[in-house]
Amino acid sequence: MKNIKEIRSDFPILNKEVYGKPLVYFDNGATTQKPQSVIDSVNEVLTSYNSNIHRGVHYLSDMSSEAYENARQKVASFINAGKKEEVIFTSGTTGSINTIAFSYGERYIKPGDEIIISYLEHHANIVPWQMLCERKGAVLKVIPMNENGGIIIEEYHKLLSSRTKLVSVTQVSNSLGTILPVSEIIRAAHSMNIPVLVDGAQGIQHGIVDVGAMDCDFYTFSGHKVYGPTGIGILYGKEKWLSELPPYQGGGDMVDKVTFEKTTYNQLPFKFEAGTMNYPGAIGLAAALDYVTAIGRENISLREKELLQYATEKMSAIDGLKIYGTSANKIPTISFLLKGIHQYDTGMILDKMGIAVRTGTHCAQPVMDYFGIDGTVRASVCFYNTSEEIDSLVAGIEKVKSMFA
Ligand code: ALA
Repeated sequence: MKNIKEIRSDFPILNKEVYGKPLVYFDNGATTQKPQSVIDSVNEVLTSYNSNIHRGVHYLSDMSSEAYENARQKVASFINAGKKEEVIFTSGTTGSINTIAFSYGERYIKPGDEIIISYLEHHANIVPWQMLCERKGAVLKVIPMNENGGIIIEEYHKLLSSRTKLVSVTQVSNSLGTILPVSEIIRAAHSMNIPVLVDGAQGIQHGIVDVGAMDCDFYTFSGHKVYGPTGIGILYGKEKWLSELPPYQGGGDMVDKVTFEKTTYNQLPFKFEAGTMNYPGAIGLAAALDYVTAIGRENISLREKELLQYATEKMSAIDGLKIYGTSANKIPTISFLLKGIHQYDTGMILDKMGIAVRTGTHCAQPVMDYFGIDGTVRASVCFYNTSEEIDSLVAGIEKVKSMFA
């Protein structure tokens, strides 16, 4: 494996200074930075072979179509999908979840049906289901959470019934870092023939995805959270579902034959890819997955475990600091508050020291409501971060405290 110096030099932005201080980037939960190979691959599309995919007979169009379809195969291999036709390119996690909320919802949801989500969802895995429930007269059920920031799994088992038509849960909480027991959730749902969507928006970055082993029916993620470009994402779906479901959006490329009387649809995966797709993004995403594979998912996971342990130890020792999300099974996300100091003040002062953290509700307002707070400071760490950066954060927090003392 490359050493940390080599890894960091792959990411040009990590050498940046802000306010004359070295950038300490701890906002990886919101978006990750990009290695040079991803930047180069997008640049190469735009400078060397830009051309609309699936539409031309000319040289450039062939090149971009081939690179786009190779990218699909790369994603399929990375997530261990059965076949590449089960991989749909979308605009991101939000686009992917909305696709299923519409397509599955229109086909299968009736008044009185129930959809189960968890308390830990971010808004992208709450609002589309609420909109669907409103349209169809269905009911949204929520798996409750506990003080550690985990879900109460026994309550999930009680919620499952013949009325349940879909379960949609996050793999990892974005606000607290908790890893959910998705395998147990899927097994229980499948024993009652209920499909499960797993939202991998935060899981994908930490390398914990294998849709084959998980046996989920749908899996969603965004390219920008796994070191790839923004505006590109993935909807994985088992073929048996995707071939059954109606398309979400109509337009070019998703069609077979169009007349004013009737349109027939293209085969998978194109049925779900209407209009000109973000092919530079898809190709950049493939480069990002290549990068992650070259570093090694096991290596990333080991390194992140060490960073989580180090950060938790150091930050727990700070007087007046409370960590939200203390589950034993979590990714290196530390959500915290300082006693008597508003999260925005903490975030803004840390920013002046060059330390980028996220403040607020993290698009997960119910989690904040559960704790009776209006937000936290979130340091979301990933494998290119260092223990020295965690020391800088700890020193920064002490400085914030001293300013408010
Ligand atoms: N969902 C993103 C986050 O957790 C934006 O910050």
